[in-house]
Amino acid sequence: MANVKSLLVNGTARPVDADPERSLLSVLRDDLNLTGCKYGCGEGRCGACTVLIDGQPARSCTTRAGNVNDKPIRTIEDLARSGKLHPVQQAFLDVGALQCGYCTTGMIMSAVGLLQREPSPDRAEIVRFMNGNICRCGTYSRIVTAIERAAGTMKEAKR
Ligand code: FES
Ligand code: FES
Repeated sequence: MANVKSLLVNGTARPVDADPERSLLSVLRDDLNLTGCKYGCGEGRCGACTVLIDGQPARSCTTRAGNVNDKPIRTIEDLARSGKLHPVQQAFLDVGALQCGYCTTGMIMSAVGLLQREPSPDRAEIVRFMNGNICRCGTYSRIVTAIERAAGTMKEAKR
């Protein structure tokens, strides 16, 4: 299979020259310098590497670059607008939903994917959806609170 020559990242076609078997995480971080997504387990079990592919949260560590060269990819670097944080980012800060911060990018991208799909999730739905994202610091309760808060902010903004 030929090398991947371009990826559609954050609304822009970015030239790359990547073996199609490489992980999307590696291409984003090492070739495109988009280091927001993190390497945690490397086998799809922790969620630290989560990005949106076609609007859905996906583990970039287990996604091959060759499988996404025609799909829109969104990383955390695309969330803030005109110097203003995305409501999910702001809510994580306001609530203090992080300690070391290593899981935070993946948590936020999963939460953005959830709120795009379901703008008013209840606490149980949030817990269920976020289940695959692991926080070794144990800030789960605040993470759920932050997502509830972001959902409220986003609803207000639409009024
Ligand atoms: S690094 Fe991708 S799921 Fe853990
Ligand atoms: S804040 Fe440290 S792993 Fe989640």
